[in-house]
Amino acid sequence: MVLLAQISDLHLDGTERARERATRVMDYLRALPTPVDALLVTGDIADHGEPSEYREAARILTAAFPVLTCPGNHDSREPLRSALLGEPPAEGPVNRLHLIGGTAILMCDSSIPGKDEGLLDQQTMSWLAESLDALPTGTPALVAFHHPPVTLHHPLPDSYTLQNDQDFAALLADHPEVVAVITGHAHTAAVSTFARRPLLVGPAVTWTLRLPWEGTEVADFEQPPGIAFHVLDERHRLTTHFRTVL
Ligand SMILES: [Fe+2]
Ligand SMILES: [Fe+2]
Repeated sequence: MVLLAQISDLHLDGTERARERATRVMDYLRALPTPVDALLVTGDIADHGEPSEYREAARILTAAFPVLTCPGNHDSREPLRSALLGEPPAEGPVNRLHLIGGTAILMCDSSIPGKDEGLLDQQTMSWLAESLDALPTGTPALVAFHHPPVTLHHPLPDSYTLQNDQDFAALLADHPEVVAVITGHAHTAAVSTFARRPLLVGPAVTWTLRLPWEGTEVADFEQPPGIAFHVLDERHRLTTHFRTVL
């Protein structure tokens, strides 16, 4: 069994509000009686992509368990690489393969520098295919990135979805070892399906999306931060639990 936590959309902007909410969820996760095997942070870590925001993220996201990240549309690759990951400057998308308890977790960069829409660009698509092809037979895989490849029936996230969802669907059709797809970006916990796989959208740490039938104000700042737990069992079945952290 592999136990994963997911947080998303911290939007760290140097304010006490953002810092407190991100610290609150990390304190909760660090204090769990049974530690998670890894934490996935699915983008919009910083609000403006500033180096100072990533330095703060690096301090807040410190844990005894592995913390796996990917960028969102509010992130900026260069300072994310240098100030959060401690890596030298490099061109191109930030894609990382992690092996956690025998499960491959592919954290992909769906950001387009300077834009809010999502795209798994050619480099990322090739990296995904090659990484999955190189896995030992029978290794389950989870693919995570920021932008959901489906519409969620709200005009805000639906205006900034993943542009090449059909290319990604074709890739998944060739890779049955991918158990599920995990994203953020929508600021609401949601479950859908994509290419015959579960699609799990983690809630936000910052504010929560008010659904169209709940009212006209888009952002609900009163809701507590949300997190998700993803449990993958020996039969490669995934169960997701959602929590709020008061
Ligand atoms: Fe966000
Ligand atoms: Fe986003």
